[in-house]
Amino acid sequence: MKKRIVLYKALSHDLLARLQAAAEVTTVDLARPDGMARLRDALPGAHGLLGASLRLDASLLDLAPELEVISSVSVGVDNYDITDLDRRGIVLTNTPDVLTETTADTGFALILATARRVVELANWVRDGHWQSSLGPAQFGSDVHGKTLGIVGMGRIGEALARRAAAGFGMQVIYHSQRPKPDVEARYGARRVALDALLAQADFVCLTVPLSAATEGLIGRKELALMKPAAILINISRGRVVDEQALIDALETRRIRGAGLDVFVQEPLAVDSPLLRLANVVATPHIGSATEDTRQAMARCAVDNMLAALAGRRPANAVNG
Ligand code: DGY
Repeated sequence: MKKRIVLYKALSHDLLARLQAAAEVTTVDLARPDGMARLRDALPGAHGLLGASLRLDASLLDLAPELEVISSVSVGVDNYDITDLDRRGIVLTNTPDVLTETTADTGFALILATARRVVELANWVRDGHWQSSLGPAQFGSDVHGKTLGIVGMGRIGEALARRAAAGFGMQVIYHSQRPKPDVEARYGARRVALDALLAQADFVCLTVPLSAATEGLIGRKELALMKPAAILINISRGRVVDEQALIDALETRRIRGAGLDVFVQEPLAVDSPLLRLANVVATPHIGSATEDTRQAMARCAVDNMLAALAGRRPANAVNG
């Protein structure tokens, strides 16, 4: 008898067909008003779940006693309690590697957009303010030749370091639990304590995964250590930063600006003070959101699911 999968993310026809050849697939559209109710109805009897952007907590997992595998279409696994999954004997898989370069591109897009005030000045032109040549009030700051501080030197951190060193002639400093001799050799990166990174970097880019150790990593004290001309870039998770402390630092111009792709609450509320600040570029968690990369992530998630259902250990098992 075929195993049962609940799919809560849309897949391309070819990927859906691959899953359907191996399993009985129930599709749930969480964007519909009855999406969560339909998911709850589908959980009893499900052997596999495939999707993203949903906190699969104990109240949902309790409804799925047959569950063997969750294939997350994401690299981040902060939506899952891995200790609880271990206890239940559920394998979790994710989609690393395929999104590394695209997410690093997002980081650099935010670095350039904030430093050169791209969004603010494009809106300024649109609003009819470009009446004469630019003056100091519209000047931005350089990116090339500056110091990039990368917090978390995983795959995405390394891809940022490559762009910074090879493309922009930047000095790279980083903070991570373990030294990365390869990154140091290739890009001249220097590993420093977090306080030193905050004090020295012109751009502080957060790439750490969200965990108990990184939640609130950047708070008032850390923001106070940054240079007044420095810019904070967050492409990791919103909760790595104390958002109110950041709003205060931006409102008082304690730091120059912020490029934020992730927020404590997503979608970001339209009345968030962050959206009133000209020195903030806020994007809707576009980290990996290109057609090619999202398709590659979906393919990876399907491969992981099919391997698990066939009784093999998936290439990207996070636990088990
Ligand atoms: C991930 O995969 O965790 C990213 O945040 C999605 O863009």
